[in-house]
Amino acid sequence: MHSRDKLIVALDVGTKGEAERLVKALSPQVSVFKVGKELFTAEGPAVIQMIHSYGAKVFLDLKFHDIPNTVGAACAAAAGHGVFMLNVHALGGRKMMAQAVESARRAAENAKKAPPVLLAVTVLTSLAESDLREMGVERPLETEVRELALLAKACGLNGVVASGREIKLVREAAGKDFLIVTPGVRPLWAAQGDQKRVVTPKEAMELGADYIVVGRPITQDPAPASAAERVLKELAGFC
Ligand code: C5P
Repeated sequence: MHSRDKLIVALDVGTKGEAERLVKALSPQVSVFKVGKELFTAEGPAVIQMIHSYGAKVFLDLKFHDIPNTVGAACAAAAGHGVFMLNVHALGGRKMMAQAVESARRAAENAKKAPPVLLAVTVLTSLAESDLREMGVERPLETEVRELALLAKACGLNGVVASGREIKLVREAAGKDFLIVTPGVRPLWAAQGDQKRVVTPKEAMELGADYIVVGRPITQDPAPASAAERVLKELAGFC
């Protein structure tokens, strides 16, 4: 695996034009771009096609959470677009996750495409234990993260999105073949922004992440390609 296969750049911008400026500057050095709710809602599947046209892959970060039939259909549509990676909320439950896996697999097979990597979001990092209490979740946050990761694995998902401080506990519980994708990553030379519990690319790898997601330290740098290059150098020792 090349270090560029471990870096996912978050395209948190509002228009396809801005996204294309970044993809143009960063590919082929960067091979996976994350498209989230803002960009996808504004521009739709044309963004996915644009990224594919540069030979890059897409992580469609829409965190689906609905009844199994609806989430299954959404995952099938994403698989039909040929996305590389997508995600659902583990709190959608066993039936929803199992349906997501099955529908994505079937749609990819019909479209003669590789099935997407399907990830679960466990507990949003914006939630504290007090927020969980308020929602009736009594167990400690870390237990909740671990149990949801194990449920996702049991449903056939390929991995989870996990912050730096959760990597170790997920890795220990779910084993080495379960993928961990870590956002909230800040190289030492970058501003922390609104991210509170950050890890550097090197720390994320040492803790056991398979992929890191980096947004603003690269996309808001005056020279995005050289910022990406610096991150890739830090990852190079882990391939
Ligand atoms: O710009 P920055 O590197 O902070 O972007 C991180 C990306 O990862 C954003 O798209 C953000 O929504 C996402 N993310 C995160 N923390 C999480 C989950 C997702 O920052 N816990």
